[in-house]
Amino acid sequence: MAAMSTESTGTAARDGDPAPAGPGDSPFVRACRRQAVPHTPVWFMRQAGRSLPEYREIRANVGMLESCRRPDLVTEITLQPVRRHGVDAAILFSDIVVPLAAAGVDLDIVPGSGPVVAEPVRAVADVERIRLIGRDDVSYVDEAVRMLVAELGDTPLIGFAGAPFTLASYLVEGGPSRTHAKTKALMYGDPQLWHALCDRLAEITLEFLRVQVAAGVSALQLFDSWAGALSEADYRRYVLPHSKAVLTGLADAGVPRIHFGVGTGELLAAMGEAGADVVGVDWRTPLDVATVRIGPERAVQGNLDPAVLFAPWPVIEAEVRRVLEQGRAAPGHVFNLGHGVPPETDPEVLTRVVALVHELTAGPAERS
Ligand code: CP3
Repeated sequence: MAAMSTESTGTAARDGDPAPAGPGDSPFVRACRRQAVPHTPVWFMRQAGRSLPEYREIRANVGMLESCRRPDLVTEITLQPVRRHGVDAAILFSDIVVPLAAAGVDLDIVPGSGPVVAEPVRAVADVERIRLIGRDDVSYVDEAVRMLVAELGDTPLIGFAGAPFTLASYLVEGGPSRTHAKTKALMYGDPQLWHALCDRLAEITLEFLRVQVAAGVSALQLFDSWAGALSEADYRRYVLPHSKAVLTGLADAGVPRIHFGVGTGELLAAMGEAGADVVGVDWRTPLDVATVRIGPERAVQGNLDPAVLFAPWPVIEAEVRRVLEQGRAAPGHVFNLGHGVPPETDPEVLTRVVALVHELTAGPAERS
């Protein structure tokens, strides 16, 4: 596919450039490791998606799950934002429910709504029906990652998975939920079943991430998007042990582990303790405050409010400056949004934000 040439990703070495050091020594991976960086790295959650016309075009007649299972499409869609915006990292195009479908769960991703599960989990038998997976069950992910690593050159590829709580919330609710009431009812009402479900989800997630590491990703992000629905006490009791099983199971993988959720201001310390090298922060908690909560041992990622992307440019610029300034309190900062790119975003605004972050932070990093 011509559009997939290395040159078009903007990662090809130019004459006179220093020898490429590889994605493991990229600004993004260095920031995750709290090392000095030539500029603050930036990427966007959900950068591969509906904000891009080239994405909408390629997805026009292909269902979401099907597109996740086609390595050629995964590769092309993953590269689109790298080419267009010059972001410092690519994120694998997939979805958090892909490994669940591979484990035999009957589900679909409904446009404009999200994952819908045909038979929600209610009893032990429902948990037992969820199979453990191996590489062969997700060979299309293995293949896509290998193709991408070859295409991306020095640009790192982020692999990802959903954390046990967020996956469980889709399985128990049967679909997206505002209150997570059914999930909490199961958690409080039948803790044994809850832990059995999360144990299984942690095993599946760990294997799914190991496949991505073996295929060559440079970092991992564990999305616990909806964990902010819980108090810290409940998070520590019902969720932390399972996320920890995943993250500590990858301690020897040799790649940084990012852990992110929305509305997790009160959970930031605990999410770090789960075994993250980088803690993602949404827009509600300023990064300097977040850094005090998370401590000096971990970097932070975030946290421009996605809604700010719809404000006039001077407001966006001021907000980017504020995020960068507050991020200087952290021992490492990866610039991102506080959650995913909204589908209605003007892609040119994202390109401008990338250029601005690079321009404002060029030069060796000074950290307080
Ligand atoms: O970040 C990226 O660019 C990589 C791709 C990615 C997708 N989903 C593609 C996608 C990633 C990292 C995800 C993770 C994901 N999926 C999460 C965690 C991140 C977060 O937003 O908190 C969650 C909770 C899901 C579940 C899910 N899948 C939701 C809530 C939706 C949105 C439904 C909608 O249409 O608004 C999906 C579908 C989905 N996943 C789309 C994309 C591009 C839209 C599907 C389409 O284009 O038709």
